[in-house]
Amino acid sequence: MKILGIETSCDETAAAVVEDGRRLLSSVVSTQIAEHRLYGGVVPEIASRRHTEAVSQVARRALEEAGVSLSGLGAVAVTAGPGLIGALLVGVNFAKGLSAAAGLALVPVHHIRGHIAANYLAYPELAPPFLCLVASGGHSHIVMARDYTEFEILGRTRDDAAGECFDKAARAMGLGYPGGVEIDRLARRGDPERYRLPLPKVEGAPLDASFSGLKTSVINLLHNARQKEEEIDLPSLAASFEKTVAEALASRLFAAAERENCGVVSIAGGVSANTCLRETVIRGAEKRGLRIYLPPLSLCGDNAAMIAAQGFFEFRAGIRAPASLNAVATLPIDHARAQDYCV
Ligand code: KG4
Ligand code: ZN
Repeated sequence: MKILGIETSCDETAAAVVEDGRRLLSSVVSTQIAEHRLYGGVVPEIASRRHTEAVSQVARRALEEAGVSLSGLGAVAVTAGPGLIGALLVGVNFAKGLSAAAGLALVPVHHIRGHIAANYLAYPELAPPFLCLVASGGHSHIVMARDYTEFEILGRTRDDAAGECFDKAARAMGLGYPGGVEIDRLARRGDPERYRLPLPKVEGAPLDASFSGLKTSVINLLHNARQKEEEIDLPSLAASFEKTVAEALASRLFAAAERENCGVVSIAGGVSANTCLRETVIRGAEKRGLRIYLPPLSLCGDNAAMIAAQGFFEFRAGIRAPASLNAVATLPIDHARAQDYCV
């Protein structure tokens, strides 16, 4: 069954067609990054307006590139949360209109479930149960995917998400937005051992993380150096920062694998594009004899292929959006039933 996925939760307007949750037929992503960069971060009002302008064209292109007409689709899947509410509403209302006009089933998809499903597109053999480290702009979770639509959060961040920490540290270093990519690029020329940055453990919760202290220590280090008129080796600071985050995330993923006695691990979300994190989890998995799945770089950031993929599994589990489908800004991954998105 072919599903058209629609994703507008943040600053990419995306549409894609995926067959049976696994086979990518098209994926179109129209990014607004250049515009938000002027403000150093996503401006929600601008994001909603740009989604409104782009969504029909992006969906039409996804259908054309897949060589599929509306009558060839089995359903429309749309990100209904979590994300920026105004941005989400554009995709949700577009998908509602399209599904009603074409007589297609409408399937609400949780954005983070979508990120995890990006791995199904790249690895036909991957099937639950497996563990996933989800690191994005808004989430840093260790998730057990018990089944395609059954998830359990084993660890989370107590404050900033990993991607948010990348973006804030990058801003303090005077780098552009989005900061994760900038830090990744700069770090390649740096020495990761040059600066020692603390990453405190959360007492009594070994799978939880706290990133706000790390962000503060980068800001303080830069501030002190400026006051003393000392030069900072920015590539090395970027490399040291990245290494600290990567080790913190990877060690929690591996601790969860051991605790759950789970031999299959994966990563997902925007931060999973990070070079150092990818190398760290590959090395760690090899050392422990675990199977590791990393999404291809093209599917790490926000896209609609992952929404169409997860949409298939939600459809198969009987999930359908009622006419009262709404968008929700926050929603835990383990409680995303169709009625949770409704008014
Ligand atoms: O999953 P995503 O595209 O959007 C959300 O759902 O939030 O994640 C965006 C986050 C941003 O914080 C961005 O800086 C980070 O992913 N990111 C990276 C890299 N590419 C994107 N962080 C580190 N290294 C990268 N290469
Ligand atoms: Zn995302």
